[in-house]
Amino acid sequence: MLSDGEFHISVWEDGVEVWVTQMGNLMNMNTAFIDRSNGVVAIIDPFDAGKWTQKLEEEGLEPTHLLYTHTHRDHAAGFPGMIKRFPELEVWGHEEARVPSLLGHVVFRKIDFTRTWDCLPDETVGWSAGAINLGITHSPGHAPGHVTIHGHGVYHAGDLLFVRSAGRVDLPGGDPKAMQRSLIRAKELLSDIDQNWRLIPGHRYDSHGGTTPDWISVGDALKFNYFLANITMVE
Ligand SMILES: [Fe+2]
Repeated sequence: MLSDGEFHISVWEDGVEVWVTQMGNLMNMNTAFIDRSNGVVAIIDPFDAGKWTQKLEEEGLEPTHLLYTHTHRDHAAGFPGMIKRFPELEVWGHEEARVPSLLGHVVFRKIDFTRTWDCLPDETVGWSAGAINLGITHSPGHAPGHVTIHGHGVYHAGDLLFVRSAGRVDLPGGDPKAMQRSLIRAKELLSDIDQNWRLIPGHRYDSHGGTTPDWISVGDALKFNYFLANITMVE
């Protein structure tokens, strides 16, 4: 189990490094994909800019891309610090994840995306930089413009899915019907990828098998996540 700010580093079979860490009181999970030969460092939802920067510096690396699953304040917490230190960063998110209203600032944080995805709900588009190739799936419901990100042995679920449960839909911009569709799409997608890939949740909230795991295999998620195991379409 990762302590706050501890990094787990693995190298996927194609040489791309996958870093996973857990930070903050809400146990936000962050994933990064690193292609050293091309100098690409793409981080999903960095929580603590200082901790990320320090760890990257130790390894002689600098971030090049930030990829956002959604713009709730906790997921966007590291944005101001990262962009101040690295103003040239490419910052990606879904077009619909732009802060929707003044009221929304209570739960959202404004992120200055430099590039956006505009795929439809349930649609998956490719994203690549150097040797990093990812699938971006628009999965609204928990928040507008929410996406999941998969590739190189991981499916980063953001707040669509946790180890046993799923994200809440009662915050501003939440949409239970859209969530249901997104969960069904996730079940299809997860059924089609290698069952040994890791599902990285947006938060480490749930216990499973007597522990509180940082992640769960895709195969176990399909069996033991309440929503993936039981979801069906209700008209
Ligand atoms: Fe969230």
